[in-house]
Amino acid sequence: MVLGVTQACSQNGAEPKATGTVAAAPAELRDGEQKFNANCSTCHGIGGIGTTQGPPMVHKVYEPNHHGDAAFQRAASSGVRAHHWKFGDMPKIDAVTPEDVDQIVKYVRWLQKQAGIF
Ligand code: HEC
Repeated sequence: MVLGVTQACSQNGAEPKATGTVAAAPAELRDGEQKFNANCSTCHGIGGIGTTQGPPMVHKVYEPNHHGDAAFQRAASSGVRAHHWKFGDMPKIDAVTPEDVDQIVKYVRWLQKQAGIF
């Protein structure tokens, strides 16, 4: 017997499906999660796991002692010249405010903690 399994999953935008499991973020980090997903995940991946367009944020290189919160503000406001990887430059992200980036950083730090990076 052939089962025609039609997935009734909601089509929320063109976001690529995350591979692997990403735990649900605590309520106070949901804004940061949404903003990360909307503005950063096309390159850094849902859950910060990276894509073919950009590096994972859940990586030792981006732990707080190596890339402090100011590096995130700088990346968003000015862009990043490729230096750690071979993905090319990161453009500045005009759609986010410094407050948005604050929330995004909190979310990314949480992801990093979950992964045992620091
Ligand atoms: C168009 C793709 C793209 C998007 C969108 C993007 N990034 Fe990046 N980002 C990159 C690439 C590529 C690098 C790696 C550059 C290198 O070091 O080689 C990077 C590097 C970074 C770094 C490291 C900066 C440093 O000092 O080395 C931070 C922090 C960062 N991104 C944060 C963000 C945040 C926050 C967002 C969303 C507001 C975002 N990125 C959106 C592509 C992107």
